[in-house]
Amino acid sequence: MKRIKISDLLQSSKVGDEVLVKGWVRTYRSNRFVALNDGSTINNIQAVIDFENEDENELKRITTGASVAITGKLVESQGQGQSVEIAVNSFEILGDAHPDEFPLQPKKHSLEYLREIAHLRPRTNTFAAVLRVRHAMTFAIHKFFNDKGFYNIHTPLITGTDAEGAGEAFQVTTFDLKNVPLNEEKEVDYKQDFFGKETSLAVTGQLEAELAALGLSEVYTFGPTFRAENSNTTRHLAEFWMIEPEVAFADNNDNMDLAEEMLKYCINYALKNCEDDLAFLNKRLLDEDKSKPEADRAGDLFEKLNFVAGNDFERITYTEAIDILRNSKPNKKKKFKFVINEWGADLQSEHERFLVEKHFKKPVIISDYPANIKAFYMKLNEDGKTVKAMDILFPGIGEIIGGSEREERHDVLLQKIEAQNIPMDSVWWYLDTRKFGTVPHSGFGLGFERLMLFVTGMGNIRDVIPFPRTPKNAEF
Ligand code: 4AD
Ligand code: MG
Repeated sequence: MKRIKISDLLQSSKVGDEVLVKGWVRTYRSNRFVALNDGSTINNIQAVIDFENEDENELKRITTGASVAITGKLVESQGQGQSVEIAVNSFEILGDAHPDEFPLQPKKHSLEYLREIAHLRPRTNTFAAVLRVRHAMTFAIHKFFNDKGFYNIHTPLITGTDAEGAGEAFQVTTFDLKNVPLNEEKEVDYKQDFFGKETSLAVTGQLEAELAALGLSEVYTFGPTFRAENSNTTRHLAEFWMIEPEVAFADNNDNMDLAEEMLKYCINYALKNCEDDLAFLNKRLLDEDKSKPEADRAGDLFEKLNFVAGNDFERITYTEAIDILRNSKPNKKKKFKFVINEWGADLQSEHERFLVEKHFKKPVIISDYPANIKAFYMKLNEDGKTVKAMDILFPGIGEIIGGSEREERHDVLLQKIEAQNIPMDSVWWYLDTRKFGTVPHSGFGLGFERLMLFVTGMGNIRDVIPFPRTPKNAEF
């Protein structure tokens, strides 16, 4: 007999069908009821064993975590919570999971504990749900761009440029670190390294995406991104996934429109296609809320998702944001860790969260930031001091998207590169595109795990990626 996945069984099998299912035992009670899950859905199938007919030693091997194959007949369920169950004809233990050793017992484990056993996390309801939603969001993003006629571009992961200029790149080298060759000036002689130059893991694929957009018009990347920023927060990973569309003949307003449309599309896609998993995750959150003070409660996930999908994002300039913040209660009462005194200050996450969660109570797009707190490639405004940047801030998350119109004027870009001391031999090709058929163009980067945080309602970015990389942690 051919195995049927539990999701297919629950959708289309009928009472009376003979079925073969395979999966992992979630619970086994009263020596009779097996709750089996194979990861195809959050829902288990219940299999009922007629104890009389079975070998007692084999029955003892049915424990939480064990893998089993079960054949039987689908019957109407007597119990609550499911419409059908399997009356077991036979079962075979595929792999034991000894209860004295198996770390996942049928009780609630903390997310912190589960991180320590990330190799087993896909066996839990919560992580399986997160991983299924993660897949759906990956698919939604590709579908969104494909339907619009964008081309997916694979940009290099090893690069010789620090495009964001933040100095947060992981170096890539084949040097023996105990014996690094030096040149005559007693500096590291990268000429002898694998690539003959200093290289690192990419902090963005943007610069190469721009090259592709200046030929294909509309492209996007979706790849891993590496940042050696030493921030141990619930929002930062050292290895995360980023989606970076890049569009020729588009200005920063088109850029904001595209970003807002994409985010709403993804959220609607999840609402439509991940209902069971979101319902499970929501129940978890609401249960946790019960033991939290009012101010810390997550609230209903579906309400939040529907609200963001159904309302226009607020759009303000950096200058307007500074005015609001300067006159805000927490600023006047010096409740902010970083009090906003003047124009030009970088916005910290406390300010971003105030704007989104307290002031506007909806996603906010902030544009036209001071040039000197943003990357070199952003297009300078006529005022000579702000750039056509745009950041999208989300409730509970902070910055979810960062992007801009790009500086397409050769002379202005050259000036900025020189002013910021960016080595010409690492960006000459980028500058070159401004010499040959340059056009206005724009793009942005969406942090995929930050989108995942919002859609699943999870509180820590380590819990929305299968194997998180963070400072002092690269296990599994
Ligand atoms: O704002 P960022 O640094 O922008 C760029 O990298 C541009 N090159 C994008 C572009 O215009 N094509 O990063 C973009 C997004 C952030 O808004 C955030 O969502 C996410 O990437 N991000 C991180 N996510 C997880 N961990 C980190 N350490 C992140 N750093 C940025
Ligand atoms: Mg940013």
